Amino acid sequence: MILLRRAKSVVGLDLGSSVVKAVELSLLGSEPVLTGFGRAEIPPGGSLAEAVSAALATLRGRTKRCVSGVGGQSTVVRYISMLPMTHEELLQAVRFEADKFLPFDADEVVLDCQQLSAPVSADGESDGNKVPVLVAACRRQLIEEQVRVIEGAGLVPIAVDLDLFALANAWDLCGLQEEDIALEPGVPQRAQALIDIGASRTSINVLRGAETCFSREIAIGGSDMTHAVARRLGVEFFEAEAIKRAGDVHEVEVGASIAPLLEDLANEIALSIDYVEHHEGVEVSELLLSGGGSLVNGMASSIEQATSRPTRVWDPLEGLRVNAESLDVEELEAWAPSLVVAMGLAARVRA
Ligand SMILES: Nc1ncnc2c1ncn2[C@@H]1O[C@H](COP(=O)(O)OP(=O)(O)OP(=O)(O)O)[C@@H](O)[C@H]1O
Ligand SMILES: [Mg+2]
Repeated sequence: MILLRRAKSVVGLDLGSSVVKAVELSLLGSEPVLTGFGRAEIPPGGSLAEAVSAALATLRGRTKRCVSGVGGQSTVVRYISMLPMTHEELLQAVRFEADKFLPFDADEVVLDCQQLSAPVSADGESDGNKVPVLVAACRRQLIEEQVRVIEGAGLVPIAVDLDLFALANAWDLCGLQEEDIALEPGVPQRAQALIDIGASRTSINVLRGAETCFSREIAIGGSDMTHAVARRLGVEFFEAEAIKRAGDVHEVEVGASIAPLLEDLANEIALSIDYVEHHEGVEVSELLLSGGGSLVNGMASSIEQATSRPTRVWDPLEGLRVNAESLDVEELEAWAPSLVVAMGLAARVRA
């Protein structure tokens, strides 16, 4: 038994477009332990608030402190160069110049920025005495909607992260950093690509050392594959979803209907890998897949083929302690790759 009664805990709440995922991490000394998880599907036209309640009912968490995530079209990530200054000055300067690089009005968004250590300009050249800065913005409206849902479910929102960066935090939580990242002249630095394939979109975050050097969202996900199966078999979406997941019913038709989407997605990912290698002077040594879409038959192999890079489905339970008494381990293991973003959000328990 793990003694966690007084442990500090945080719930990571991933409000996906098709599934709500909730993960609770608690600190045992300084070690994060997974103490609960819950998930609930949002049926087409169904209510997000109901799915959140259902996921939290399964979670049976010990805390109300919650970190949620945002992504998609209401968010923007940009890599820019600025003169060195303090964080406060940087925020002010970025806000002042926001209309140069954001597709939203500065007062419509919540902004944050972070100075990076490596050069971000093309071909890895540094831009005079400027420093690379990562800017993340999210429309205020989306954050306010999330906060309403979270408070409505009886939780207390303590932070909102970008899903893209939750991926990196999960990677750090799981201790996936490679040994071989030493800089030697003429040898490209190794990087890892984290790729979360959801229902509505696929998010890519490439890490050099422990730092993001490229991120992108692609508007292809598992729902597109379900729609393709539904069209081909002439069935409703929910039926097509069950057929797609079963894998052994209408196998040939399912394979044929999702093949063009698998190919498009794999090609888009390959283009991104080529881009980041060319512009950042890194070599992407491994691709780690997460999200429910990573469970599609043939996903990892088609991406591996298109990118010529070792590709595997990421099991975030490797290297993470689990309190088996407070959750259904079999369910947890079955859904583990789709819980990566929720885990990355809950990783703030270490802050
Ligand atoms: N066993 C399976 N085989 C194939 N696809 C699966 C399987 N399990 C789940 N999926 C797919 O995973 C997707 C849901 O994954 P996930 O929970 O990561 O999405 P989401 O977070 O709700 O979406 P998004 O991040 O795009 O908002 C669905 O499209 C679903 O069809
Ligand atoms: Mg998701």
